Amino acid sequence: MNQQTLILIKPDGLVRSLTGNILTRLSETKLEIIGAKMVRVSKGLAEEHYRDLKGQPFFPELIRYLQGDLHKRPKVMAMVYWGPDAITKVRELAGATNPEEAVPTSIRGSFGRIRTTGLFENVIHASSSPADAEREIKLWFNPDDILTEIYPSKEVVEREIKRRVWAG
Ligand code: PPS
Repeated sequence: MNQQTLILIKPDGLVRSLTGNILTRLSETKLEIIGAKMVRVSKGLAEEHYRDLKGQPFFPELIRYLQGDLHKRPKVMAMVYWGPDAITKVRELAGATNPEEAVPTSIRGSFGRIRTTGLFENVIHASSSPADAEREIKLWFNPDDILTEIYPSKEVVEREIKRRVWAG
């Protein structure tokens, strides 16, 4: 069954120049990239992304990690991959959430580590279920950012919305 999944290359992946390597590994899945962008992550976006973990002791550090505070690199690469069994295929390549438990050849097994504080610095995020994927994709992307109609969308006319346009 065709599925979509959200993948984030986290600030440690970017700062260590792992983007090319990660994309090459992900291309083994033969899935299609239907959305991609660089995002400066606000505290609000990070907290909403990890909202189910709010009570965890590592939550504040996890938010600072996704915002790039721990790596002095305030950005994340967000992508939507689409195709047969996308969620399972990407999770398999990513490896277990805990880098110490991840298969050594997986992305997290190869490049992840655990900080002395106990926080998993695991290079990428990948949605864990269709429901999570829907919530996460809708949080990170607008319908117009994605090339395939994966969820129903509608057109609205908005007046007096301030947005930046090219000056020339
Ligand atoms: S999972 O595998 O996505 O279902 O894991 P989940 O329990 O839902 O999400 C946990 C996210 O918190 C990050 N994190 C940690 N989890 C557990 N213990 C520690 N110490 C820890 N440090 C960070 C973990 O990496 C998961 O985020 P993502 O972005 O999915 O990797």
